[in-house]
Amino acid sequence: MKKIGIIGAMEEEITPLLELFPPRNRATLLGGNLFYHIVYKDTEIHIAYSKIGKVHAAITASTMILRFGCEKVIFCGVAGGLREDLAVGDLLLGTKLCQHDVDISAFGHPLGFIPESRVFIETDESLNAIARQVALESNLTLKEGIIASGDAFIHSREKKQWIIDNFGAAAVEMEGASVAVVCDSFKVPCCILRSISDSADGSADVSFDEFLESSAKAGADFVKKMVDRLV
Ligand code: ADE
Repeated sequence: MKKIGIIGAMEEEITPLLELFPPRNRATLLGGNLFYHIVYKDTEIHIAYSKIGKVHAAITASTMILRFGCEKVIFCGVAGGLREDLAVGDLLLGTKLCQHDVDISAFGHPLGFIPESRVFIETDESLNAIARQVALESNLTLKEGIIASGDAFIHSREKKQWIIDNFGAAAVEMEGASVAVVCDSFKVPCCILRSISDSADGSADVSFDEFLESSAKAGADFVKKMVDRLV
């Protein structure tokens, strides 16, 4: 059977997914995450939320791959928009992921660079092509760009501008890059889909709380359509 892993960071981000992929009566608690196992047509779908942040997301992605044998990993959740054309509710496909909080520039390395790794980790072109096709056929606008991840909720104009200036990022969140690094390390195709919940500025916290649920639903509906093309 084919095996696909779908990860969100927060419970709110996977709740709409679980509604789209019932039943959810088989689950495993491992490494602090509850993994739901669903058989959907010819495919096993494993769904979990990681908890917030890069370390938690790395644990979940690794478990999906090494324990449950996921051959493809999709991350679905919300992000703060950095680019002017990104409004709340917009869908964004992460073409490359980077870690804006990695800094060993004291040793002459570029920001975001870790020796033997790369500043930017690309996501899987075939999965991204499926996402584009879904958008086209569903008449949805899917924007694309670099996503910067870091262990901080960005809520100031200064920090937002700093991330744009240093990484050319379109959006910011707290998990995507770690999932991309795990998948790249194990040679598992990965797709990072984010729905914009805020603009990473002074009102980001209020916007995030207001739009988390609706943005998560938009992302989950999109991922369901992608899965329907993969099974
Ligand atoms: N996820 C959603 N909005 C975010 C923000 N402003 N900063 C970091 N992660 C986010």
